[in-house]
Amino acid sequence: MTNLVLKYSPKVVEDVVGQKLAISKIISFLEAHKKKKGLILFGPPGVGKTSSVYAIVNEYNYELIELNSDELRDAERMDNLINNSVNTLSIFGKKRVILIDELESFDAKGISKVAELIRKSTIPVILIAIDFWDQKFKALRPYCENVEFRKLTYKEIMKRLIFILDEEGVQFDEAAVELIAKSSNGDLRAAINDLETSIAGINKLTTNDVFLCDRNIKKNVFSAMQKIFKSEFSGEVIDVFDTAAIDLRTGILWVSENICNEYKTPRDAAEAYEFISRSDIFLSRIRRRQYWGFYKYAKILSTAGVNLSATEKSSRFVRYSFPSRLLKLSESKNMRSVLKSTAKKIASKLHVSSDIFLRDYVSMMKILLKSTPNLKKQMKEEFGLTDSEINLLAK
Ligand SMILES: Nc1ncnc2c1ncn2[C@@H]1O[C@H](COP(=O)(O)OP(=O)(O)OP(=O)(O)O)[C@@H](O)[C@H]1O
Ligand SMILES: [Mg+2]
Repeated sequence: MTNLVLKYSPKVVEDVVGQKLAISKIISFLEAHKKKKGLILFGPPGVGKTSSVYAIVNEYNYELIELNSDELRDAERMDNLINNSVNTLSIFGKKRVILIDELESFDAKGISKVAELIRKSTIPVILIAIDFWDQKFKALRPYCENVEFRKLTYKEIMKRLIFILDEEGVQFDEAAVELIAKSSNGDLRAAINDLETSIAGINKLTTNDVFLCDRNIKKNVFSAMQKIFKSEFSGEVIDVFDTAAIDLRTGILWVSENICNEYKTPRDAAEAYEFISRSDIFLSRIRRRQYWGFYKYAKILSTAGVNLSATEKSSRFVRYSFPSRLLKLSESKNMRSVLKSTAKKIASKLHVSSDIFLRDYVSMMKILLKSTPNLKKQMKEEFGLTDSEINLLAK
C-alpha cells in the first residue's frame, strides 16, 4: 500500500493548497537575503510548513542543507559549514539554503547554537516550529523574521482530497469528503491519513466508509510512544497503555511499527523486537488458554522491555507512524462490508439467503465474470450494484 501523504507531498509551489502569502514571503526572504537574519515559519501541524520549503527549494533550484539537533552539536561540522558558508553557492553553482525543522526537539543549548549559526552564516537559514511564541525560542526572536502558516479551511482541504481521489481513480460522494475535511480541524496530513484508511479496498467513497482516527486516541498514543521510547525507565512506563486507555494488542502494534523509526542502531532495534516477540508469545498463550495471569508479562515485555533496549535515549523528534497491520485490517473490513451489501442485493433476487449466496454463488459468479467480460455491465444493471460492488465481485 502506498502512503498517500508521501505520494501527494507537494513537488512545486502550485501543489501547495492555501498558504499563498506565507509562500511569497519565503520566496522574497530568499531572494533578498540579509546577513544575520533568519526566517522562522510557524503554525499548527500538517498545514504545509515543511512541504512548502521543499516545494520552493525544488522549483527554484536551491540546494537544501538540512540540519538536526545532533548535527548542530557537532562542532566540527558547524565550523565547516560556517566557514564554508562564504560560498553561498554549492559546487554545482546552486544557491544554498539551510533548513532546521522541528525546532521543539531542541534544548536550550541547541537553540543558542541555532542563534549562533544565524549570526554567522551567509547562507539563508529557515527554521520551523509549531509555536513561535514559546518562551524557549525567545533567544531567537531578535534574529528572525517570522511567517505564519494558518490552519487550512475545510474547503481547501476538500480541494486537495478531491484531487487525490481523482488521481487514485476513486469515486466519491462529496458529503463523505466534506466529513473527513471538517473533522480534520485544519490539518491536511490528518485528513489525507483518514482518507487513506477510508478508501482502502473500495472504488467509491461514501459517508458509510469514512473511518476517522479519533484525535484523542492519537494524542494518547503519541504520549505513550514518547514515554516508552524516550523516558528513563520508571514504574510509569509499564502502565503507559492503561494510562492512555489503549488496549495492549493495539499498543504493541504501534510499538513494533515504530521501533525502527526510533532506534537508530540495529542492536537496540533487534533487542526491542526480541521483547515484542516474547510479549506476543504470552498474548497468544492468553488467547489459547484464557489464562490472564500472563497479561502482566506481555505488558512488561512490550513496554519496559522496549524502553530498556535503548543504549542511549534520543531527544530527536520522531513522527510515529500508524501500524500498517491496522491499515490492512481496515482494508479487509471495508471489503467485507462491500461483499455483504452485494450479497444482500443479489441474494434477494435469486431467492436464496445471503449466507448461501456467499457460500455457493460467489465463486461461480467470479468465474463467469472472468470468462464473459460483457456480463459485468449486465449484472451491474440487473442487480442494481454499485461500481465497488461489481468490481469486488469481478476481482
Ligand atoms: N498546504 C498543503 N498543501 C498540500 N499538501 C499539504 C499541505 N499541508 C499538508 N499537506 C500534506 O500533508 C503532509 C504533511 O505536510 P507538512 O509536512 O508540510 O506539514 P507541517 O506543517 O510541516 O506539519 P508538522 O508541524 O507536523 O511538521 C504533506 O506531505 C502533504 O501531503
Ligand atoms: Mg513539518
